[in-house]
Amino acid sequence: MTSHHAAFLADFVSMSSHGATQGGGVDRQAATVADGQNRNWFRGLVEGHGFGVHYDVVGNQYSMLELTPGAPWIAVGSHLDSQPLGGRFDGAYGVLAGAHAAKRVQEKLAAAGEESSAKFNIVVINWFNEEGCRFKPSMMGSSVYTGKLSAAQVLETTDPHGVSVREALESIGTIGDFELPVSAYVEIHIEQGRSLEDRGLAIGLVESTWGANKYEFVVHGDQAHTGATIIADRQDALLGASALVVAAREIALEHSTDQHMVITSCGEFNVFPNSPVVVASRVNLLVDVRSTDPDVLAAADAALHARVAEIEKMANVRIERGAEHVWGAKAYDQAGLKLAAEAADTLGLSHGVVRTLAGHDSTNMKDLVPTIMLFVPSVEGISHNERELTSDNDMVAGVDLLTEVLLRVVRGEFVA
Ligand code: GLV
Ligand code: MN
Ligand code: MN
Repeated sequence: MTSHHAAFLADFVSMSSHGATQGGGVDRQAATVADGQNRNWFRGLVEGHGFGVHYDVVGNQYSMLELTPGAPWIAVGSHLDSQPLGGRFDGAYGVLAGAHAAKRVQEKLAAAGEESSAKFNIVVINWFNEEGCRFKPSMMGSSVYTGKLSAAQVLETTDPHGVSVREALESIGTIGDFELPVSAYVEIHIEQGRSLEDRGLAIGLVESTWGANKYEFVVHGDQAHTGATIIADRQDALLGASALVVAAREIALEHSTDQHMVITSCGEFNVFPNSPVVVASRVNLLVDVRSTDPDVLAAADAALHARVAEIEKMANVRIERGAEHVWGAKAYDQAGLKLAAEAADTLGLSHGVVRTLAGHDSTNMKDLVPTIMLFVPSVEGISHNERELTSDNDMVAGVDLLTEVLLRVVRGEFVA
């Protein structure tokens, strides 16, 4: 363990105290007090190391380390926000790793007498609201940066209590008008699955995303008495919504092939008025369908919509489809994969190619600039859970690799 490793791990422990939960995780939903505390802590940390910090119009936080004045910028980043009762590692690991790696790159260049000949400067970006739990959709800050969502629409988006993104960001003081184009993007994240652990690998080189279709459904019924209203007269929104949850699982099982798995779930489910002795008038739920293959995904998606029509008849309800959040199965930059593999070989780190089931800010960024996405192992693949864990050794190996990758990128070995 080097002094760099010890410093990283100490900072990781400090960071994890913000929004810490009883079960060993964190609750730092986007633009809450805990997220604000952590953002301000991170700002103080990096300012102490010579970075300048700015915010853009949707609260993305840019920590800038200038190596060669006037040179273009490359970005490294992830997100500091979390799910409710989330783990300490998801997103936060990558932002802190980015700051430590950038600083180490500066030291390495200085030691080699190359500091002011770097072809790029480094900005560490903490993307606003990757998780999408308080404000939907997920990957919000990077979606605005990459032009997939408008800032105006995002700023007006409200949480379940009617607080807008603009109000929430203003209340924690992390909003501005900064803008910065970047030439390339690098992200490191925990795997959130167990393929690296199963294969005994230290590093995953992400070759592509899975495709995902996420839909908000509203099941409309009619409020009634659970005893006095006879079955024939009911329009039970909860029955319809429950059938949709079950249908989603059945579709995953029916449409998965040996080559292409289908994964579906319902993550959010709100019943109105949710009262004893009342047949529900309405349920709002979110269903997502994912696959590695666009045709398999399209078939599963069509099956889901066919089931929606059947469920409307069976439960005597109307099912409305609301907002959607969709991204395709798409490759990351091939040259980036090769660069990262060579960097891992130089450090003697075992590595293998993986695909990402989960969405990340890099899912957006890879559509804008050449992007490299790296994974470190997750113990038992546990994620979005307070028990999420990546070992200290795996974390610092990831920071070492990120340092080596960034060094190559600022020397102009990835993009010109
Ligand atoms: C992230 O937004 C995900 O849905 O995986
Ligand atoms: Mn994440
Ligand atoms: Mn997450």
